[in-house]
Amino acid sequence: MKLAIKIYAPTTAAAAALFLFFAAVLLSNCTALKVGESCVSDKNCDAGLHCETCIAEADVRPRCTRIQPVNPFSKVKDLPFNRYSWLTTHNAFARLGEKSATGAVILSPTNQQDTITSQLNNGVRGLMLDMYDFENDIWLCHSFGGKCYNFTAFQPAINVLNEIQVFLEANPSEIVTIIIEDYVTSPNGLTKVFNAAGLRKFWFPVSRMPKNGGEWPTVDDMVQKNQRLVVFTSKSSKEASEGIAYEWRYVVENQYGDGGMKAGFCPNRGESLAMNTTTRSLVLMNYFPSNPDVTQACKHNSAPLISMMNTCYEADGKRWPNFIAVDFYKRSDGGGAPQAVDTANSQLMCGCPNILSCKENATFGSCDLPEPEPGVAPSAAIRNGTSSANLDTRTIQIHWVIGASFMAIILSL
Ligand SMILES: *[C@@H]1O[C@H](CO)[C@@H](O)[C@H](O)[C@H]1NC(C)=O
Ligand SMILES: *[C@@H]1O[C@H](CO)[C@@H](O)[C@H](O)[C@H]1NC(C)=O
Ligand SMILES: *[C@@H]1O[C@H](CO)[C@@H](O)[C@H](O)[C@H]1NC(C)=O
Ligand SMILES: *[C@@H]1O[C@H](CO)[C@@H](O)[C@H](O)[C@H]1NC(C)=O
Repeated sequence: MKLAIKIYAPTTAAAAALFLFFAAVLLSNCTALKVGESCVSDKNCDAGLHCETCIAEADVRPRCTRIQPVNPFSKVKDLPFNRYSWLTTHNAFARLGEKSATGAVILSPTNQQDTITSQLNNGVRGLMLDMYDFENDIWLCHSFGGKCYNFTAFQPAINVLNEIQVFLEANPSEIVTIIIEDYVTSPNGLTKVFNAAGLRKFWFPVSRMPKNGGEWPTVDDMVQKNQRLVVFTSKSSKEASEGIAYEWRYVVENQYGDGGMKAGFCPNRGESLAMNTTTRSLVLMNYFPSNPDVTQACKHNSAPLISMMNTCYEADGKRWPNFIAVDFYKRSDGGGAPQAVDTANSQLMCGCPNILSCKENATFGSCDLPEPEPGVAPSAAIRNGTSSANLDTRTIQIHWVIGASFMAIILSL
C-alpha cells in the first residue's frame, strides 16, 4: 500500500484535482447558480438567468446574468399604468443572424438576439417596431429615407403581430406596448395589419389616454376590459384617422443613440417635449449607441444604464422611466436592463429603491427590506471575481474543499 502511494502520489494529486475540477463543472450543470456566479453554460444558471461573458469589461469571467425583470404585477397590481416600468427592446424585430423573408441577405444592423415570442416570455413589454410599406404589405424594416429594400427588410409585420396576439391570448393579465416608427403611407395600412393579426380586440383606445399628464387607468382595469395593447405611432395624423395614439402627445423621450449616452446628460429627442414636461404622463428612456454593438452592449446595459437612469430621473422632473429601451436586452455583466427595470418599478410602485420592499397595499415609501425571496435575484449579488479564469462559484468552492480534504487524506496515508 505504502509503495503504491509513493509511486502514484504526485499523479494522484494532479488526477484528483483534474477529476474534481471536471466533477465540479459537471455537477454545476444541475446546480442553479445565482446572479454573478461563474458558469459554463446557460443551464448552470437559475431560471431567468443566462451564462455570459462580457469581454467589454476587465472581468471576463463567464457568470450568470439576468435576462428577466421581476413581473411587477406579482407585487402590486392595482396602480395606474404610468406607475410601472417596462423592459423595452429597441428595434425588437432586428434579430442578429436573421435572414430577410425576401431571401436577401440583410445588410442593416441588428439590435436583439431573440424572437419577439422569446422577448415577451422574458418579460419584455415594450416593443419598438419600424414599419414600412413594402411588397403590397406592411413590413418590419430597418432602412433609410423612409423606404424599405430587400436587403433592409426583415419580415412582414403580420408575423410579429401574430406572435404578440398569441402571447396576449395566452397571458390574460399582461399588457404590451408597441411603439411604431411609422413610415406607412398606404391608406389604413396599420389598421389593416393590426386587424388581420387579431389584435383589435386588445386595443387600448386613444379616448382613454390621459391628455394632460393625468393618471392612466389602472392595470387592473385595463386587464378587466381586455384593453391590453397600447400602440403609439410617430405619425400625428393617424390619431384622428385611425385611432392610433400619436406618441408625443403622451410620452417624453430622451435622445437616442450616441447623443443619449453622454454621462450626466439627459436631453429630450427632437420630437419630444422637454423631459420635465409633466403634461405627458409617460417617460421613455433610450440607452443604446447609434450603431448597435453586441460586444459593448453588456457594458452599456450595466452600471452606465443605471447611472443614466438616475441622471434622467433628475432631468425628468424626478420621474422614473416607464419604458427602458435598450439594444441586446439580454446582455450585461450581472443585473443589466432587468435590474434597471426592477429599480424603476420599485420606485414607481412603492417609492423604494429595492423591489423586494414592494408589497401590496403597503404605504408608499415605507421601505423596510424583507428577507430575500427564493428565486428573486438580490440586487447587489454580483460578486467580484478574483481572476478571469477561475470558476469561483460557491458550489465549486465546496467541491474544492472536499477535494482538498480528500487529497490530504490520501497523501497522509
Ligand atoms: C426582392 O424580393 C422579392 C421577393 O420578396 C423578389 O421578388 C424581388 O425580385 C427582389 N428584388 C430585388 C431587387 O432583388
Ligand atoms: C425643465 O427643463 C428645462 C431644460 O430642458 C429647464 O430649462 C426648465 O427650467 C425645467 N423646468 C422645470 C419646471 O424644472
Ligand atoms: C389589498 O387591499 C385590497 C382592497 O382593500 C384587498 O382586497 C386585498 O386583499 C389587499 N391585499 C393584501 C395582500 O393585503
Ligand atoms: C468590487 O470591488 C470594487 C473594488 O475592489 C468595489 O468598489 C466594488 O464595490 C465591488 N463590487 C461588488 C459588487 O462587490
